[in-house]
Amino acid sequence: MEIKPIRIAAFASGGGSNVRAIYSNIAKGALSAELVAVISNNSACGALQFARDNGIPAFHLSVRQFSTAGQFENRLLALLTEHKTELVVLAGYMKKMPEMVVRAFKNRMLNIHPSLLPSFGGKGLYGHFVHEAVLNYGCKVSGVTVHLVDAEYDTGPPVLQRCVPVLDDDTPETLASRVLQEEHKIYSDAIQLFAEKRVHIVGRSVRILSGTEK
Ligand code: GRF
Repeated sequence: MEIKPIRIAAFASGGGSNVRAIYSNIAKGALSAELVAVISNNSACGALQFARDNGIPAFHLSVRQFSTAGQFENRLLALLTEHKTELVVLAGYMKKMPEMVVRAFKNRMLNIHPSLLPSFGGKGLYGHFVHEAVLNYGCKVSGVTVHLVDAEYDTGPPVLQRCVPVLDDDTPETLASRVLQEEHKIYSDAIQLFAEKRVHIVGRSVRILSGTEK
């Protein structure tokens, strides 16, 4: 059965390798989605440049461009609405999403975190800090979590989680790169489930319906 591409808007602050992976999976026909906008708080963000280079609407939007936080929030929401966004994906977005936007996209906003939440998540645990903490603890596995976004950092219910082994000689860099390879697969897999309308949310439990249950 033909699946209608889901309209996704991505928020990123950094290099944007997850945005690139999503784009490339769409281009390969492995993901039924359309990247309708890339938005960043950081004008020098690699994800924005990638979007511009590939004809994807790209927006630099920062609270500092507005006189009030409310104006910024209204602009964000208007942008998402104008682009008929069905799903918001945060891919290394380093700002807290305003609560009003989170509410408007309740159960339709995803984040990706490079650990098995709730371990090694929350404020201050991002990027290399996550992998350092995993190694300092002596963990044998780490992983990736794609989760729904709620008002706090990294606390929304998981949609998909996958393990990644920690090796004896890992450094934060080698672990980060193994985890990132998994990120580039799992995010598209999670988005595809939304495109296929197979995500059923009951409280904190995100159930993935089989193709015949939906
Ligand atoms: C990823 O590790 C993601 O899990 C985290 O931020 C990083 C973004 O990397 N939330 P990139 O900009 O997509 O390369």
